Amino acid sequence: MDEMSRKILFPRAAIQKRVQELGGQISGDYAGRELVVIGILKGAFIFMADLIREISIPCNIDFVRVASYGASSENSGKVVMTKDIETSIKGRDILIVEDIVDTGLTLQYLVGWLKERNPHSLKICVFLDKRKRRKVSFEADYVGFTIDDGFVVGYGLDFNEQYRFFPDVYVIKQ
Ligand code: PRP
Repeated sequence: MDEMSRKILFPRAAIQKRVQELGGQISGDYAGRELVVIGILKGAFIFMADLIREISIPCNIDFVRVASYGASSENSGKVVMTKDIETSIKGRDILIVEDIVDTGLTLQYLVGWLKERNPHSLKICVFLDKRKRRKVSFEADYVGFTIDDGFVVGYGLDFNEQYRFFPDVYVIKQ
């Protein structure tokens, strides 16, 4: 991607500071307890790796992978689980970690899926929240940054599977 086609939105230093704040907040909220942190592949892997290292209580980790079907950047509403967790979550405190919430359909589906297993509690931490694009009413418990519409890449987020490795977050100029 040439320099003219993208604009920096969150530089790595701002991301690091915000992730530290979130980790501190989560550690305080769950003080004396133990968390099962569930990341949603692929996009959440970098955020989750940084976040768990800012959390000072014991964490188990696991991952799910879901696929949503529709035209490229638009979500059609059909969400399918393609890799389930391998951890028993009954009676445990669960934190879902996601890179971005857009329409809310992915997280709505996943929350329903996990609640059927009777965790003690279930909260959601998202790095980016595109609030204006919701198709279902959905609130995350912890939000890194709220953003406007626009296509963002980097820090785990992709465009056609590219640019996940960028340490900063960019918005692609349309
Ligand atoms: C992206 C993102 C979220 C989902 C959010 O995943 O990582 O999981 O879309 O959209 P929604 O709120 O409209 O459901 P994507 O399907 O691009 O997969 P990826 O994580 O592998 O990039």
